[in-house]
Amino acid sequence: MEVLCIEGPARLRGEVAVSGAKNAALPIMAASLLADGPITLERVPEVTDVTTLIELLTHLGMRVLRLADGVVRMETIDPSRYRATPDLVRRMRASFCVLGPLLARRGRAIVPLPGGCNIGARPVDLHLKGLAALGADIRISAGRVIARARRLRSATINLRGPHGPTVTGTANVLCASVLAKGNTIIAGAATEPEIVDLGRFLIGLGAQIEGLGTDELAIRGVDQLGPARHRIIPDRIEAATLLIAAAISGDCVTVRDLNAEHLQAVLGVLSAVGCQLNVQHDRIRIDRPGRLLPIDIVATPYPGIASDVQPQLVTLLTLADGTSSISDEVFPNRFAYGSELRRFGASVRRTGRGVQVEGCSRLRGTQTLAHDLRGGAALLLAGLAAEQTTLLGGMHHIDRGYQRFDEKLRQLGAHVERRLPTCGPHARLVPVDDRLETVV
Ligand code: EPZ
Repeated sequence: MEVLCIEGPARLRGEVAVSGAKNAALPIMAASLLADGPITLERVPEVTDVTTLIELLTHLGMRVLRLADGVVRMETIDPSRYRATPDLVRRMRASFCVLGPLLARRGRAIVPLPGGCNIGARPVDLHLKGLAALGADIRISAGRVIARARRLRSATINLRGPHGPTVTGTANVLCASVLAKGNTIIAGAATEPEIVDLGRFLIGLGAQIEGLGTDELAIRGVDQLGPARHRIIPDRIEAATLLIAAAISGDCVTVRDLNAEHLQAVLGVLSAVGCQLNVQHDRIRIDRPGRLLPIDIVATPYPGIASDVQPQLVTLLTLADGTSSISDEVFPNRFAYGSELRRFGASVRRTGRGVQVEGCSRLRGTQTLAHDLRGGAALLLAGLAAEQTTLLGGMHHIDRGYQRFDEKLRQLGAHVERRLPTCGPHARLVPVDDRLETVV
């Protein structure tokens, strides 16, 4: 397990480019199973989740070539396969996105149920409800979804769940509906930019979709989908993470190759806590001249503050002048990283709704361990802010969703270096009370 050695406090300055969006690339690559003909994707991020999906799509009879500069070429060569391998789906939850395309194009699919993870329960009931509404026969046996459909038919479906829309559920049902006979309506659809990008890709294949970016999609089924070339949108979560890194430790940093339209909510938070922002469509310059101000935030579905940015914002607020509260309506329990932040001397306390953060003037370097992708990013940012040295274990979590993130930070002047642990990175960790104190 690789460890990142971080010398803090970092002073970041200069310019850095954002990579393609992992959470757009994954459903779009899965949707390529629908197409008859070659697919060329540009700006596909070099992250391990994409590598895992390439392994699965190859197993499912696609030829996938990863070329230089984020270009990926894909084409189906054996359409008879329909069984997704358990280890790959368990390794990467988003592999579940192959279910809808396999059903629509090949008439059957066997896909293991994805497990839960460190950020909370990850049910797929809404995915299955939508596919069944389109006429699929769905059974669950031995932890697998066994699905069949001669020809899917149109339906009116509501995908809204108890925590709002489902992003990958919308992807699965949208992909299944584009080849379903008739006109389908998906109400309660996710409006995230990654779903809009998926919809534009499908339209590029010849699908007929209206309402992209709204919570009601209207699809007119077609008989066949052809080849296409598509450029993945910039990763708004990586862009936000880099902007927050700059806010924590920066002089003046420019983050480019982004889409500022996708970042409005987090830009509002950064401005409210005292950052100065110069915003252009594809680049943002950020400066933080003075102390950070506290703020209360709630993570919600798009266009609100993304749940995937909530942990990084908590790290920022551990340095603010005062008390902040943070809750998450998408994943209400996505705060496991809080006990690791306490190792830095941060005051992050679990409350009934989320966490309460007492800002402090400084964090101290420590040894810490990432347990998931965005919680790991929050710990990396804490290492950039902390005095002295931080050893961050679990870098494989961060590599799942950030393309060479440590190189990007070095480009901005951070002193970060990957190391293989000489011994267990946490063998000498002083046990800390991992239960987050509960404040009533
Ligand atoms: C996507 O996950 C993203 N992953 C997540 O990013 C992101 O946190 C999440 O959307 C929310 O924005 C990808 O796009 C690959 P959901 P997804 O279905 O689709 C509940 C990252 O770090 N729900 O939108 O799996 C669910 O429990 C990852 O890049 C149901 O109840 O999330 C949650 O509370 C982490 N039933 C809420 O909906 C269902 O059938 C939103 O989940 C499906 C979901």
